[in-house]
Formats: sequence, structure tokens, C-alpha cells
Amino acid sequence: MDWGMENRMKRIFQSDGRAVMLACDHGYFLGPISKLEDPAKTITPLLSYADSIMLTRGVLRNCIDPASKTPIILRVSGGNSIIGKALSNEGLTASMEDAIRLNVAAVTLSIYVGTDHEHQTIINLSRLVDEGERYGIPVLAVTAVGKELEKRDARFLALCCRIAAEMGSQMVKTYYCSDFEKVVNSCPVPLVIAGGPKLETELDVFNLAADAVRDGAKGVDMGRNIWQNENPIAMIKGIRHIVHEGGTAKEAYRMYLELSRGKGRKAAGRKK
Ligand code: R5P
Repeated sequence: MDWGMENRMKRIFQSDGRAVMLACDHGYFLGPISKLEDPAKTITPLLSYADSIMLTRGVLRNCIDPASKTPIILRVSGGNSIIGKALSNEGLTASMEDAIRLNVAAVTLSIYVGTDHEHQTIINLSRLVDEGERYGIPVLAVTAVGKELEKRDARFLALCCRIAAEMGSQMVKTYYCSDFEKVVNSCPVPLVIAGGPKLETELDVFNLAADAVRDGAKGVDMGRNIWQNENPIAMIKGIRHIVHEGGTAKEAYRMYLELSRGKGRKAAGRKK
């Protein structure tokens, strides 16, 4: 790996080889979802707790202070919307030249394996890897499932992650599932997990992160379960405890409750 590529990877994956990425790119097809109506208001207080943030160039340019030192993972695929015909119908939406202009640490796109747009999204990934290799910019491939969340099983996700790695992606983001080790063991590049839609309790979120790390994930690229929480800083601190300090889900939850106390916002219990 060339110096520039390695330097960028090491800005994303810390000295322990793990990463807490904060996913804030949802608006590219979901529009102003809850708590991201005003991206700056939600993202800015969390910036210093994230090892990197994942977002589009529009939100980056308009909502993030250029003085921020948090590495950027730039979403460069889209062209779809939640009300359109097919979420899988994505193309590349930003050039590598613009990614370099924005001084990003990595670029990211989704592949939609098993859909009508499988071919185009995998070719998008291959082209992006070619461009990234030229300039030393790593690519994070997201194994997207669109609205079909039930697709998230080990056989399917292992297929998606392996294809992403075979196309040259330097890292892959996928979902946690039963038999997750099978996904990890057949993917030769680092894997991180998405959080998915907001879970019922904070402990569920911490259990998800802890199980994923235990089974071989190198960290998380989590969004809604952090910034849609009543106490997002307490959530991301709990996640950091699991990812970087080897903490348990219960420890993270205790930390969350302690940090939430006296905040004037709801300190959530087991069930909401
Ligand atoms: C899709 O909207 C994006 O790729 C998100 O970055 C991804 O789903 C992770 O965010 P969350 O943890 O909210 O699922």
C-alpha cells in the first residue's frame, strides 16, 4: 500500500486497528430524516468523538467547519430516492477530483448485489477503486440492501462483502448477522458494521456493537442509533468504550446512563 493510501487508512482505523465512523449520509436518498433536518446542529457536537464521519459533499461544504480535524469519508454514490422506483439504481455522484479538493480520507459507495442494478453498482465500485488507487484514496464499499432488511443473513452478506473485496475495495461496511464470523472470515479486508434503523433500547445498540467486534468487525459505521438518541454524546462514548477499550455492552450502557444523568434530556431506561 502506498504511503498516501496507508496514511488515510490509519487516520480512519486507529492505532488499535479499530474505527468508530459516524454515518451522517442518509439524506442522499432519505432527505431530512429525524435529527438530520439541520445536519450541523446534530453532527457538530459529535465530531470530536468520531474517528471519521461519513457524509455527502453538500452537507460537508455547507454544514461542517473546515477547521474540523475529523477525517471525512465522502459518499459518492446516489441518484436514487426513497420514493423512486429502485433504491439500487445508483451511479457515481461526485468525482475523485472533487473528493481530493475536499481533502477526504476515503470515498464510499453502495453496491446492491442481487438486484436489477447489481452490475452497474459493482462496476461503479471497480471504477472508483481504479480512481482511488491512482490518487491514494481508499474506498469503503457499503453492501446495501435497500428496503429489504430481511436479506441480512450470513450467506448473502458474505457474498456481498467478498465481491466488494474482490473488486478492490480497501474496507467494507455491512450488517451484523448470525454467523457473522463467516462473513468476516471470507472477506480479506476490514469490515465495519452499520447500525441500521433505530433499535428499541440503548442496550440493544451496545450489544450489537459488542457482538460485532467480538465476531471480528473492526468497528462500526453507525448513524441513527447514535444521533437519533436522546443523548447522542453518551451513546457515542459508550460505542467508543466497546470498540476501542474492549468494554462490554453492559459497561457501555452503565456509562451511557451515568453520562445522561442530569442532562435535562431523557436518560433512557431499558425500554422506551
Ligand atoms: C445509508 O443511509 C447509509 O449508508 C448509512 O450510512 C448507513 O445505513 C449507516 O447508518 P445507520 O447506522 O443509521 O444504519
